[in-house]
Amino acid sequence: MAEFTLPPNSRVKEGKTFKAPAGAKNVKAFKIYRYDPDLGENPRVDTFEIDLDDCGPMVLDALLKIKNEVDSTLTLRRSCREGICGSCSMNIDGGNTLACLKPIDEVDGAVNVYPLPHMPVVKDLVPDLTTVYAQYRSIEPWMKADTAVSANKERPQSPEERAELDGLWECILCFCCTTSCPSYWWNGDRYLGPAILLQAARWINDSRDEATGERLDQLEDPFRLYRCHTIMNCTNTCPKGLNPAKAIADIKQKLAERVL
Ligand code: SF4
Ligand code: SF4
Ligand code: FES
Repeated sequence: MAEFTLPPNSRVKEGKTFKAPAGAKNVKAFKIYRYDPDLGENPRVDTFEIDLDDCGPMVLDALLKIKNEVDSTLTLRRSCREGICGSCSMNIDGGNTLACLKPIDEVDGAVNVYPLPHMPVVKDLVPDLTTVYAQYRSIEPWMKADTAVSANKERPQSPEERAELDGLWECILCFCCTTSCPSYWWNGDRYLGPAILLQAARWINDSRDEATGERLDQLEDPFRLYRCHTIMNCTNTCPKGLNPAKAIADIKQKLAERVL
């Protein structure tokens, strides 16, 4: 991606530059969005020059090096550093992805690092996930089954029934998809967005769940589900290679078949 420069009328201003150590030969600049609500200032973009000969290969390695060695106030979420927890999602080089899975050498020029787009920002690279978690709660993401099973017994599934969950259970709720979806940008208060709808599909497709009809009823709404216009940004950005657009299309098809 071509190097990004802030437009002159942007409320985000160039901030400080932290130079690489003297003698560093393999220097890469990281331009990182900074916002601290306690300062009462507009956001800024600070530039950190990092010696890649003294840094791990992923963008998350650089961010942690900056936090540990240059500016401890840099704020970000992370936990597993191997694409499992979903907490290090952010916008890198213009695309939503996981910082721990994004190789630095995939980025030409300076590495631009921003929080996930169209979310309120708590601080620096940390978005406020209150709304998406409330939306997650709204789909009741747990098994609902009234049929009794004897104590200490599982609810069995055939291999074919279990396969219906493939492509759904792997979602790590990083919200890269939801925050890349134009429909969610404009209607995020009422449209559930691709991550939550993929999670809804995970329960609708579970042969052990006995609330399929109720779950479909809850989604049959012009905003909660039908704001998806199949723009496909979600599928193109998912760092786990999942296909939320297909999961949404499958829910719509189940609703259409129910009417026939
Ligand atoms: S396919 Fe639907 S959910 Fe995915 S980006 Fe497009 S509108 Fe959003
Ligand atoms: S579908 Fe992919 S991008 Fe969306 S929340 Fe799940 S893992 Fe993240
Ligand atoms: S740190 Fe867990 S997904 Fe990146």
